[in-house]
Amino acid sequence: MEDFHDYLEARRAEIEAALVAALPAPPECPASVASAMRYSVTAGGKRLRPILCLASAEAVGGDRTLAMPAACALEFIHTYSLIHDDLPAMDNDTMRRGRPTLHVVAGEGIAILAGDGLLTEAFALMAREPATADLVLAARKLRVIGVVAAAAGATGMVGGQALDLSASRPDRTDRPALLLAGEDLRMMHARKTGALIRAAAVAGVIMGGADDRFVQSIDAAAAELGLAFQIIDDVLDVEGVSASLGKTAGKDAAAGKATYAALYGIDGARRMATACLDRADGILREAGLGGTRLSEIGRWIVNRSH
Ligand code: IPE
Ligand code: IPE
Ligand code: MG
Ligand code: MG
Ligand code: MG
Repeated sequence: MEDFHDYLEARRAEIEAALVAALPAPPECPASVASAMRYSVTAGGKRLRPILCLASAEAVGGDRTLAMPAACALEFIHTYSLIHDDLPAMDNDTMRRGRPTLHVVAGEGIAILAGDGLLTEAFALMAREPATADLVLAARKLRVIGVVAAAAGATGMVGGQALDLSASRPDRTDRPALLLAGEDLRMMHARKTGALIRAAAVAGVIMGGADDRFVQSIDAAAAELGLAFQIIDDVLDVEGVSASLGKTAGKDAAAGKATYAALYGIDGARRMATACLDRADGILREAGLGGTRLSEIGRWIVNRSH
């Protein structure tokens, strides 16, 4: 089997090409919003969600090209969530993916609209592709659209972001646990970050044509990985360096955010992320998926430095 690093690079190259091809462009789309969407989507990023989507399709023996539209749609939705997360009314960040944030270069109005455009385009893309007259494939597409909508919306990512906003206490940076207890913090992370990561894995398995047993196992494993991902994001905000993160380090403490690092310390948070990874591996092994790329993706999530 190809080395994991080469595997990631190969998937990334396919994803980058598909993302650019799927972006709306002039003359159908006004240049102002088209170039704003392109600026944020093509700024790089790890492409974890689309990679997880394609890897999940392949883990169950499916054709990853069938999962590519959903993979790109998830990256569009993720990128929109970052653009809005960085707005002055939210985290007020000026650096993202190694570049000035979109509202800094294009203004808040265009940044809001670019986010809206990416979110909506994601669903247009999943409805349109893969183009098919096959009713079985059409039914899979419809199911995936429902999964992604629920994950992106008010019960998923948007809901988690709302919890995050109400749990921020810039006036009480000395007491990060003021508003959130452990279980509430877990739920916030599960929604704001876990939901889209779960949806990426589930969309891949559904497009890969697997039966419900696999859908449930991969969903449960991805829920663990999604939580681990945000725990490590919280840790890197403390330990990381802005230049390699591509975003401003140290923002969470300054903003009085409820994070795993604030509540449990760096070592405690890292141990909890590792426990998530162990649970995910256990679920995958039990489902007969232990030898797939999904376990390697899990280790990448926990051991990454950016
Ligand atoms: C950052 O996501 C925001 C979170 C949900 C934690 P990523 O760390 O996946 O950001 P990119 O896509 O690599 O820029
Ligand atoms: C953001 O969490 C989660 C999203 C839904 C975008 P953070 O606010 O911690 O993400 P970063 O650290 O700015 O990337
Ligand atoms: Mg945030
Ligand atoms: Mg943020
Ligand atoms: Mg963060």
